[in-house]
Parts: sequence; structure tokens; C-alpha cells
Amino acid sequence: MKKIGIIGAMELEVEALKDKMEIHRKVEKASLEFLEGMLSGTEVVIVRSGIGKVNAALCTQILCDIFEVTHIINTGVAGSLKNEINIGDIVVSTDALHHDVDVRVFGYPLGEVPQIGCLAFQADTELAQLAVACCKEVNTDIEVYCGRIVSGDQFISDKKIKDNIINHFHGFCVEMEGASIAHTAYLNHVPFVIIRAISDKADDSAEMDYPTFEKAAAAHSAALVEHMLQKIK
Ligand code: ADE
Repeated sequence: MKKIGIIGAMELEVEALKDKMEIHRKVEKASLEFLEGMLSGTEVVIVRSGIGKVNAALCTQILCDIFEVTHIINTGVAGSLKNEINIGDIVVSTDALHHDVDVRVFGYPLGEVPQIGCLAFQADTELAQLAVACCKEVNTDIEVYCGRIVSGDQFISDKKIKDNIINHFHGFCVEMEGASIAHTAYLNHVPFVIIRAISDKADDSAEMDYPTFEKAAAAHSAALVEHMLQKIK
């Protein structure tokens, strides 16, 4: 039987899912509240991790250790790194990496964490394919893309920094948790997928766009996750 850990960094990224689930148990750990129960006929643990890579990593480890989840889905918002990916559209991860790791001085490529053995963490193809198929059914007014998601402990709102990230990593969108969820899931041998709806363009317009579009974007992503749960067997 599958047990899906669902992580959103902010309350607005998980509130709709929490409202709909049947809660069996609430567990507090590391100042986080984990809700265990059923949603759309699937066993789930839903949690708001808090923002940034450390919060997301420790949250993921608790899902693996204490709740023994079999799969992890990260839902939330992101800044677009491609002209054709618009606000409201969805990116499903093929892989994820840390854009803010730099140990080039010892020969590692930019973004690679030393001694891990890979630059990017591969998402589960079955979960990713399911996410794309479900997105086409549930969010008919937007486009869905499959590609690399890059993460760092920075909100990107400067065109020069954005262009630098694009040139180095060829990501589809940028956010602040996905790679550390992917990294932790990888170390625990737990399959994962990251699903992000675009809230801004990660350039000089991001400061204005993000507060305007984050709620609708977060809702798009959560609606997709709910639909996926109905199809997960
Ligand atoms: N999440 C949503 N938009 C973002 C951006 N521009 N940078 C980092 N994280 C984000």
C-alpha cells in the first residue's frame, strides 16, 4: 500500500489539501505539524515544511523516518526560467538540483554537492507521467511542462541572476525547496516528484507579480495533486 508524503513550503500551498483530507493523527516534530490520514482514497501525510532548503530537507527526513512514506510529492509555486512558460502554467520535475552550491575550487561542477555522485536528482518517471496526464485533465486552461527544477535559498527577482542560473543549469523554473526534498528523498531511496505552478518570471517583475499570483498558482498545483491521488494505486 502506498503512503504519500505531501510537502508544501507555505500554508497556502497545502491548505486546500488539508481541508479535504480525513485526518487520523496529528504529530508535532521539529516545530512542524504532520497530518496523517486519507485523501482521495490514498494514505497521505501532509505537512507545511516552511520556506527554504534546510526546512524542506529536515521535513523530508521526518516523513521518511517517522511516517515511512513510500513516495513524496512536493507542491507549490516557482519562478519561470523560460519565456514560453507563463504565470499559471505548471512545471513537473524531470530532475532537481541546487543552483547555489559552488565547490568548483575542488573540481566539482557548479551545483554539485561533493561526494554525492550526481549533479541532479532524478524524479520518479511514473509519478511525473501521472502528474502530466492529470494536469491535462484538471487544469485545461494552462500548459504543463516537464523539465529541470532548480533550487536555492534566494528569491530570484533580478534578470542578471536569472540569466546566470539559466546559462549554468538550463532549468525550467526556480524555487527554494525542491532540490533539497529531491536530495533527501534520493538518499533515502524514496521516489519523488516536484510539481510547481508559476507565480512570477524570476526577473525584475517578480516582486510585483509574486504576491498577485501566488494564491492562484498554489491552488493550481494543489488541485493537480488531489487529482493524482485519485489515480495512484
Ligand atoms: N518561488 C516563487 N517564485 C520564486 C522566485 N522568483 N525565486 C525563488 N523562489 C520562488
